[in-house]
Amino acid sequence: MKIGITYGTFDILHYGHVRLLKRAKSKVDFLIVALSTDEFNKLKNKTSFYNYKIRKELLSSIKYVDKVIPENTWNQKIKDVKKYNVDVFFMGDDWKDKFNFLKPYCEIVYLSRTKGISSTYIKSKINQ
Ligand code: CTP
Repeated sequence: MKIGITYGTFDILHYGHVRLLKRAKSKVDFLIVALSTDEFNKLKNKTSFYNYKIRKELLSSIKYVDKVIPENTWNQKIKDVKKYNVDVFFMGDDWKDKFNFLKPYCEIVYLSRTKGISSTYIKSKINQ
């Protein structure tokens, strides 16, 4: 069984997120999403509209997502990859080459982002 993992905040779930998850799941049998906690978002200077519990509820309801785990720190990735026997690590290509240090442990796949949509964009439009 091929296992994949990806990371993110996934606030105000949108079609860019769903497409990313669909493409990731099409390459593995089991997809884990490490979802940034509210505390970790604070460290990243990000405030999400939905809290962790709601973001987890929404993500878990997507058919491409098999498991949601918390992302608490920047440096948990090697630990997660080992713990869950991850075969493929997926990231949006805005992070291209930033995670090549995981290459000894698993395959790294950078997926292109969907153009014209982001949680930040939705928030800015709603605030207009
Ligand atoms: N993603 C994507 N296409 C988009 C937006 C996000 O493929 N248009 C992917 C990101 O590359 C990442 C995952 O979805 O792998 C979660 O991204 P996240 O940063 O939570 O979403 P954004 O909408 O980019 O949020 P923000 O505007 O807060 O940065």
